Amino acid sequence: MSQPPSPQQAARTTIASIGRMYARGERIAMLTAYDYPTARILDDAGIPMLLVGDSLGQVMLGYDTTVRVTMAEMLHHAKAVVRGTRHALVVADMPFLSYGVTPEASLEHAGQLMREAGAGAIKLEGGERSARTIETIVRAGIPVMSHVGLTPQSVHQLGHTVQGKTRDAGRQLIADAIAVQQAGAFAVVLELVPEQLAAAITERLHIPTIGIGAGAGCSGQVQVVTDLLGMSAEFTPRHARHYVELYSIIKSAAEAYKADVDNGVFPGPEQTTRMDDAVLAEILAQPSRERPEMVEVSRGIPLDRDL
Ligand code: KIV
Repeated sequence: MSQPPSPQQAARTTIASIGRMYARGERIAMLTAYDYPTARILDDAGIPMLLVGDSLGQVMLGYDTTVRVTMAEMLHHAKAVVRGTRHALVVADMPFLSYGVTPEASLEHAGQLMREAGAGAIKLEGGERSARTIETIVRAGIPVMSHVGLTPQSVHQLGHTVQGKTRDAGRQLIADAIAVQQAGAFAVVLELVPEQLAAAITERLHIPTIGIGAGAGCSGQVQVVTDLLGMSAEFTPRHARHYVELYSIIKSAAEAYKADVDNGVFPGPEQTTRMDDAVLAEILAQPSRERPEMVEVSRGIPLDRDL
C-alpha cells in the first residue's frame, strides 16, 4: 500500500533532489553541523545538505583526531541536527571502525544512524577498499555518500597532506571514485585533491563530487562550519574562508557581559521583573517564624502540601 509522504517528509531534500540539482548543473553547497541551534540557522539559510561529520571529534569535543569519535557521540549529535532541520538532507558520518569490519556490523551501525538519529544518508571513507561495504549498505536501502582523497580516519597512515599528486596516486584516486560510484554511492567527497585531478574525476563520474580543498571544479563544496564562521583563534585550513569572525565577536560579547556583571549594570530594568510594593510590604511585615509552612519546609519538604 502506498502512503503519501508526511508534510515533514515532503519538505525534506532527498538524494533524488540532490541528483536533480546535479543534473541541472547547479552547484551544491554543503556544511557540517553538530548541534540544534546551528542546524536551524543553516537550514533557514537554505543549505541543502548538512553533514554531521566526525570532525565533530576535533571541532566540538576537543579530541586530537576523528579516530576517537564513538557511535554514541555520532548518534547524539546527529539527533540534534535532525531535530534542528526541516529541509536539509542530513548526512551522518560513520565513525572509525563502525564499518568495514563485518558487513553485519556496517549495516547495523548505518541503520542506527538512519533509524535512531533520523539521518537521510550516511557517509563513510574509502574508495575501492570500501566498495563492498557501500554496496551492502545501499542494497539495504540506505543512501551512501563516499569520501576519498584525504580520509581523516586514516590520519595515522596518510597524515594531513594533499592526495593524488603522483602518477600512481592520481590513478588510484580516479579508480577509487569510479569504484564507489559503481558500488552505488549517490555522491563522493573529494578531500585535499589537486584541482585539476578533482575536475577530471568530476568529468568522469555521473554522481556529484563534493570538494573540500579540491578546487572549484567539483559539483559542490563542503566546509566545516566552524572554519566558515571563524570560530578558532589558532588554526584555519588553507582551503577555508572565514565569512565572519565569530571567535572575536563571541569573545567581545563575553567580555562586555563580564564587565556589566562586575559593574552591577547587568541585569538592567529591561531584564528585571518588579512586583507590587504593597504586596511586598505585607509579605515582609509577617515574621517568617509565625508562618508554619516556612518552619515545615526548613525541616524537609512537606508531603501534604501542594508544591
Ligand atoms: O567530518 C567531516 O567534517 C568531513 C568533511 C571534512 C567532509 O568528513
